[in-house]
Amino acid sequence: MLTLRVRSITYEAEGILSFELVDPEGRELPAFDAGAHLDVHVPGGMTRRYSLCDPPWERDHYRIAVLDAPDGRGGSRAMHQRVRAGDLLDVSGPHNFFPLAAGARHSVLLAGGIGITPILAMMEQLRRTGQSFELHYCTRTRERSAFADRLASEVADGRARLHHDGGDPRNGLDIAGLLRSPREGTHLYYCGPPGFMKAAQEAAAHWPPETVHFEHFGAIPPSAGSAATAGDGGEVVLERSGRRIPVGPAQTILQAVREAGIDYPSSCEAGMCRTCEVRYVGGRPEHNDFVLSEEERQTHVLICCARVGDGALVLDL
Ligand code: FES
Repeated sequence: MLTLRVRSITYEAEGILSFELVDPEGRELPAFDAGAHLDVHVPGGMTRRYSLCDPPWERDHYRIAVLDAPDGRGGSRAMHQRVRAGDLLDVSGPHNFFPLAAGARHSVLLAGGIGITPILAMMEQLRRTGQSFELHYCTRTRERSAFADRLASEVADGRARLHHDGGDPRNGLDIAGLLRSPREGTHLYYCGPPGFMKAAQEAAAHWPPETVHFEHFGAIPPSAGSAATAGDGGEVVLERSGRRIPVGPAQTILQAVREAGIDYPSSCEAGMCRTCEVRYVGGRPEHNDFVLSEEERQTHVLICCARVGDGALVLDL
């Protein structure tokens, strides 16, 4: 855990503020790679995940950007309304579940709205290391396009393009067309709001899986207080010991297992990194992850975010 000072807050675009965070004693901050994020303990007791958007070699500060979401779960509202320059914020991280792959011949970077934040750091890193990339940044309007100025030289040389759809995705980037023909050695990275993610996922379904990388921004670990399952809860059975552990309707399997005194490795606790993957041999979990394919879901579960709707789920543990 780090406690950082908010050195400045900047208006970046309509509804978007960036927060520059520094060590209160002026010390250098821990290293990170492009694609990393901080878990920020937001006023009001919430924890929210925000990508680091400045270049990784700038170690005197971190920068996160936050889109005000009046109909969201309150984290971004609190950042906009309750955080002031000079305040201290507790953060965990940096963590990185969205790193650049080594050895790509070319990288396609796709950003939708506030999803530009990790993509921007990736672009900086690729640019600095002289690697080939193209960047497509999709927003509603120019006024809602944070950090567009930082793309100016890439826009000028054709490596970056801004696409404004005016609120109708049919007028924006043709993602399916762009991703129709994957080239060998090309890696794809995308981040944006749910509709954008779905469009990119469908358009890249025929790409080699190891070349497709994405991050659902705003993804947070389900907590005991978040929405419950459709059922009354159930139990997990640990096949090797026969032990039965009850899982409440608002509990993840990992929470229940830990409550029962069993430690199991986890990392992101948000259904993105696979650290908590477990094979199951009976019953059906409620999957809540972002990474397993439908085929994988028939046999494996990411227990940090999955729940048991009702009945028993038998884990290969
Ligand atoms: S801990 Fe990362 S997917 Fe579960």
